[in-house]
Amino acid sequence: MLGVARRRTWAYIFAVIVIFFIVSLRRNLDTHGFPPLSALNPADGLSHSRWSRMKPKYPVKSMRQLPTQKPQALPKVQKSFPEEADPARIKRLKRQKAVKEAFQRCWGSYRTKAWMSDELTPISGGRRDTFGGWGATLVDSLDTLWIMGMKKEFKEAVDAASNINFDGTTLEDVNIFETNIRYLGGFLSAYDLSGDKRLLEKAREVGEMLYAAFDTPNRMPLTRWKLHSAIQGQAQVAEDNVLLAEIGSFSLEFIRLSLLTGDPKWFDAAQRIAEVMHEQQASTRLPGMWPVVVSARQQAFNKHSEHTLGAMADSMYEYLPKTHALVGGLLPIYREMYEASMDTAIKYALYRPMLPDEKDVLLSGMVVTQGKDDPKLQPEGQHLVCFAGGMLALGGRLVENQTHVDKGEKLMEGCVWAYKAMPNGIMPETFSMLPCASPDECPWNETMWKQAVLGRTSMDGDPELTLADKIITSKRLPKGFTDIRDTRYILRPEAIESVFILYRITGRADLLESAWDMWTAIDDATRTELANSAVNDITVTDEKPPQSDSMESFWLGETLKYFYLIFSEPDHISLDEYVFNTEAHPFKRLLP
Ligand SMILES: *[C@@H]1O[C@H](CO)[C@@H](O)[C@H](O)[C@H]1NC(C)=O
Ligand SMILES: *[C@@H]1O[C@H](CO)[C@@H](O)[C@H](O)[C@H]1NC(C)=O
Repeated sequence: MLGVARRRTWAYIFAVIVIFFIVSLRRNLDTHGFPPLSALNPADGLSHSRWSRMKPKYPVKSMRQLPTQKPQALPKVQKSFPEEADPARIKRLKRQKAVKEAFQRCWGSYRTKAWMSDELTPISGGRRDTFGGWGATLVDSLDTLWIMGMKKEFKEAVDAASNINFDGTTLEDVNIFETNIRYLGGFLSAYDLSGDKRLLEKAREVGEMLYAAFDTPNRMPLTRWKLHSAIQGQAQVAEDNVLLAEIGSFSLEFIRLSLLTGDPKWFDAAQRIAEVMHEQQASTRLPGMWPVVVSARQQAFNKHSEHTLGAMADSMYEYLPKTHALVGGLLPIYREMYEASMDTAIKYALYRPMLPDEKDVLLSGMVVTQGKDDPKLQPEGQHLVCFAGGMLALGGRLVENQTHVDKGEKLMEGCVWAYKAMPNGIMPETFSMLPCASPDECPWNETMWKQAVLGRTSMDGDPELTLADKIITSKRLPKGFTDIRDTRYILRPEAIESVFILYRITGRADLLESAWDMWTAIDDATRTELANSAVNDITVTDEKPPQSDSMESFWLGETLKYFYLIFSEPDHISLDEYVFNTEAHPFKRLLP
């Protein structure tokens, strides 16, 4: 009896231990997800994250398949550069070195003070998690490390990035767009450049997570995604008001991921959105362009009245010619949408501003439509919309339309002009100017400028002009600017991005000088002891622009990369082999 009882006690204890072990193992799996990657065979083609194990509530019924034809040979993008003279090379390499040193300084500070966090705070030396807490700066910088030849740092960064856990986050909402362009884009590009399989595995993991945000009845994604509700298995439905850029900028990353993994589901997800846009492009209030706000739930992309190439829409347009380039012309709707949208944008959104030196440049504003035939231009300017010069120049080359290349060049010139016109040599985040009555001739008229500062088209007499003078002084408006609504510079890349693309396309040597002027101005105003910081007011003249202790990941991921590449040999990351996503991550193009 005694013996039996004791045996039973042991059996009982044994069972408790086993159950405890199983429960804790499962909990471990649930909260920490997959085992470390080193324990897996990366070639087995399976993702081990929480997201790859999730069953969709609304599975895709007919999966769109990747095109299988041979890619076309698209027209050449880059100019054939002549052999470089020694003095030019020496000057170029000196400048490139200065950019690389700035990158090394920022990277070193991130590494020692904010490693694995999203951002370094560049004045206080702290850390900040703003994009899911998955090491945004680390992932955004991987390809820059490779491009700058920092192979030792690259290896260390890839080792660390392999351990990022995408199974959870401390944030309430996940911004699907930002996660796509920074993390998925960062991993894909670092993989395309280095061929390190661990990076493709991470790309797949992020892709699996993003794909869960598309699990809705109509397969349109949630753009501000409640990740925790998704983990709990709650049903999701797409939202009514979403931003065009946030729903329309998946194609580059998703198609590249499908091409690399052979799994068409991401291609399918991006293609469904593109098809809706294609269907409705001609039925919007400004046919050819889509409004800034669209309904994912109703799949209505043609209801609202604000249209722009700028903030909240931007990368959706950018991805049209770039996707055409990525797939070697195999998906015709992207080219069609690009050409139709640019017809409209060139006609209604681009304008020549009245400038004191009467320089012939272009800016891109917001077009508001009340009735169907009554589009009104709001003549603004944004640092963000500076990407449009590069987009039109690249697109123009790809579809062989010189008008696009010329318009792109003038848009780029508009940004260069705005940099030069400001007292610190940096253009502000947003501003307004006065459109010329005619694009062909635009004499400077000081009275008209002051009327525009007052927001009037007619004027009753001199007292009002005195008021305009007061506004000009207090807002520190350089001649030509009628308002500066946002005086910050937050380390953005779009201006140098366009200068870089136009340089590669035209070979204009003066663009290297413009780039260098932009570089010295930016580095002077933003440099801190540790790194570089966003600044609050670039209109000040009596002191240095006040800094705001913020360095978004795009400074290392984009801005410094474009500054480095414009001072590289032109075949380093050639635009004929690579296409950059909107976070400056180069993907390999399909070539015949
Ligand atoms: C080039 O682009 C312009 C503006 O979008 C358009 O009007 C023109 O028809 C295009 N040319 C060709 C040859 O497609
Ligand atoms: C400048 O603009 C004002 C106001 O529109 C106009 O009255 C004046 O004639 C213009 N001056 C010139 C030189 O065109």
